[in-house]
Amino acid sequence: MFLVTGATGGIGRRVVRLLRQREQSVRAFVRLNSRYSELEHRGAEIFIGDLLEEKDIQKASQGVQYIISAHGSDSDALSLDYRANIELIDQAKANGVEHFVFISVLGADRGYEDAPVFKAKRAVERYLQASGLNYTILRPSGLTSNLLPLVERFRETGLYLLIGDRKNRTSIVSTDDLAKIVVDSVTVEGARNQILPVGGPEILLREDIPRIFGRIFTKEPVIINSPLFVIDGLQSALGLFNPQIQKALGTYRTLLTNEFFCTKDEIANLEGIFNFQLETLENFLRRYLAV
Ligand SMILES: NC(=O)c1ccc[n+]([C@@H]2O[C@H](COP(=O)([O-])OP(=O)(O)OC[C@H]3O[C@@H](n4cnc5c(N)ncnc54)[C@H](OP(=O)(O)O)[C@@H]3O)[C@@H](O)[C@H]2O)c1
Repeated sequence: MFLVTGATGGIGRRVVRLLRQREQSVRAFVRLNSRYSELEHRGAEIFIGDLLEEKDIQKASQGVQYIISAHGSDSDALSLDYRANIELIDQAKANGVEHFVFISVLGADRGYEDAPVFKAKRAVERYLQASGLNYTILRPSGLTSNLLPLVERFRETGLYLLIGDRKNRTSIVSTDDLAKIVVDSVTVEGARNQILPVGGPEILLREDIPRIFGRIFTKEPVIINSPLFVIDGLQSALGLFNPQIQKALGTYRTLLTNEFFCTKDEIANLEGIFNFQLETLENFLRRYLAV
């Protein structure tokens, strides 16, 4: 039995689908208000709970062989990115779990001071490494599925909003490829007790993204390039009312200011370990848009 947290999210939903396609038993940890009927329909066992509640994590972990932590945190990194994962790891030990897969983030080890999600991920990575459990820590760069709403908007308007440096490099990974890597991590020998950066097969400049959109729809993109101080202004203004959102914007700013890409060697290593070729952003978008 696999326990998957974040089972209704971009990564988690695809992980549950793939596990069910492979006829594995899955317990999907979902919130009551989440959209989980598809997962139920596919034969996942639905566990309704809240990762803010320790007792829910304890109950959900009973009798599982594998844990895949794929939940996000909105703006509460301390409770969800940190505490909930520490509790999941403790429960994995208590229940003799065979393998724990943790979705971290590319750059978790760079010491970004103003990015609570990155700090929480690094602390959890360390805790998991010291836990004595078998683990795989995956550090993805951006996900292609995040771009689906943007490409739909582009289809209608031809507009693309780009905040910050348009020359920053990124290696966005197909969310479907990532789901496959997550699921295979529990069986592939080369993934055991590894920290793996996960990116797509090409290093893109951020301005390449609207160009790819333009190619798909044969439409010249209109790029609205907003400077970073817009975020800084927003961060200061929101901080007056809600310090938690202000901190969350710190993570967002870190994502916008820095480069998140994998080297060619890292990608070759990943393809070697998991024995398949990663798909490009354009390929992913064309599949989903059926164009
Ligand atoms: N997206 C990216 O580009 C990216 C890049 C690198 C790493 N990551 C990491 O990958 C992981 C998954 O990302 P994602 O983009 O797939 O996430 P996502 O689409 O934002 O989904 C987040 C998931 O977490 C669940 N969740 C949030 N709070 C919860 C709570 N209190 N109790 C139970 N479930 C809760 C959500 O449930 P609901 O459906 O109820 O909201 C949802 O299923 C995250 O840890 C993220 O940091 C993401």
